[in-house]
Amino acid sequence: MASRKLSSLLYASSSSTAAATSLCSLGEFWSWGRGKIRFSTSVSAAQPISPSAVTEEPINPAVKINHTQLLINGQFVDAASGESEDVNRAVAAARKAFDEGPWPRMTAYERSLIMFRFADLLEKHREEIAGLETWDNGKPYEQFANIELPMVIRQFRYYAGWADKIHGLTVPADGHLHVQTLHEPFGVAALIVPWNFPLLLYSWKVGAALACGNTVVVKTSEQTPLSALYVSKLFHEAGLPPGVLNVICGFGPSAGASLCSHMDVDKVSFTGSTDTAKTVLELAAKSNLKSATLELGGKSPFIVCEDADIDKAAELAHSALFFNQGQCCVAGSRTFVHESAYDEFVEKAKTLALNRVVGDPFKKGVEQGPQIDNRQMLKILKYIRSGIEDGATLEAGGERFGSKGCYVQPTVFSNVLDDMLIAKDEIFGPVQSISKFSNLEEVVRRANATRYGLAAGVFTQNIDTANTLTRALRAGTIWINCYDIFDAAIPFGGYKMSGQGREKGLNGLTNYLQVKAVVTPLKNPAWL
Ligand code: NAI
Ligand code: MG
Repeated sequence: MASRKLSSLLYASSSSTAAATSLCSLGEFWSWGRGKIRFSTSVSAAQPISPSAVTEEPINPAVKINHTQLLINGQFVDAASGESEDVNRAVAAARKAFDEGPWPRMTAYERSLIMFRFADLLEKHREEIAGLETWDNGKPYEQFANIELPMVIRQFRYYAGWADKIHGLTVPADGHLHVQTLHEPFGVAALIVPWNFPLLLYSWKVGAALACGNTVVVKTSEQTPLSALYVSKLFHEAGLPPGVLNVICGFGPSAGASLCSHMDVDKVSFTGSTDTAKTVLELAAKSNLKSATLELGGKSPFIVCEDADIDKAAELAHSALFFNQGQCCVAGSRTFVHESAYDEFVEKAKTLALNRVVGDPFKKGVEQGPQIDNRQMLKILKYIRSGIEDGATLEAGGERFGSKGCYVQPTVFSNVLDDMLIAKDEIFGPVQSISKFSNLEEVVRRANATRYGLAAGVFTQNIDTANTLTRALRAGTIWINCYDIFDAAIPFGGYKMSGQGREKGLNGLTNYLQVKAVVTPLKNPAWL
């Protein structure tokens, strides 16, 4: 897949092309998916992109937007109000499809075949999908097409493979009893998705929920509805019965809240901010106590030990923070470097940030597009100002990039202290914070001194150091000498206020399953 040529149409108007070197380094940095990914490119070595020119040019990609209505009961329909009325219609369709429709009743193999066919359609339409996601979100087309979209497709195939392998146990209870457990779908699941990885997070939730036989209402983020609408239509082409997958696009405090408090919704899975998650949980509790899975924010430590491979650590620390414009729940946003390697590391981090290619996300070689919106950009710039005021050393960036659009300069701070705001809050932008540490005990204490616990990166050549840190760090994922490996089979989720439950992998399925114990007395017990 990675070797397939990207749509030439999308680049038809671009006059500048990336230097071969920046494409090479892009490939080196990106570990999303499977370790190092190298991109092939038809572009020969040319002049590097002139960053300022890029953002001043109007962006007119050849993206066709076909679907802007809500998808309810297999049909695109106009929104009635954009709020609770639409939620009611979508939930009613999902409820009927679960209570009376074929989806939970068909064989698990038939369900899996529909999911596999859908994955094939995603592959077939990858250029349209990548165009929509880039247009909606601002993330670089190349990164989405070569890294995220293959992960989306893989996630659906992964869960399609599980559909006919979900089963319970025969339980050896005391007494003359035949006891079995049945793993059953919850019913109607509300899946609330944020804007930073619209389609990837759709795949984690929709894939797992549907494989178990649930019906769903997806609420996209208000900023990024396009890819979910487009692919959900493809799901129906693959044979999904109407009402199984409904997509609404309303605002969080109205449509999202009304889903969370809906009495006919049995399950909610939410990805977004920790503050909004509290509201989600409260609404779920106050309505019908629906089960909630939460995947939330983070302030993940990236620890570079004395004996680490400094070049590799600096490159991965850079991508751990700057990938997706810094808008990642797992962003390695607290970089702790051992004092013996500190100066060298800071120098490398600075150089990497200064060389990062910012600009039109449709252009080849661009590594960083705009932030999601103006509000986020202003929030990030405010955090940068607070870092300067608090006395951190600004090594690179620090300002808006250009004068049009929501671009922020790749920013690096060194000498960051733990009580500075930039070391405590989730910034969700391209701002790297580097601190110094002296020993392992100290770095463990500091790394764990946060309300979050989503992920951590550990860079060391010493197996004992790796083992110690793996067990001492309180986070849902520990990456040793790597970062951002998101395989479909690896469970993902947070400790502490970074979440509840896990997504992906086998653990991700259990969010969407009830366990029913069935007990039958044995009339004429044999030797068992
Ligand atoms: P948010 O958490 O408010 O929104 C995420 C999703 O929840 C969206 O679909 C939104 O419509 C929905 N939502 C919002 N309020 C709701 C409510 N009362 N009931 C039900 N659903 C609701 O995040 P937002 O406002 O887009 O971004 C604010 C900050 O949150 C960001 O700056 C970032 O720090 C963090 N964030 C973290 C994410 C993550 O992956 N952990 C993803 C998005 C944002
Ligand atoms: Mg919000």
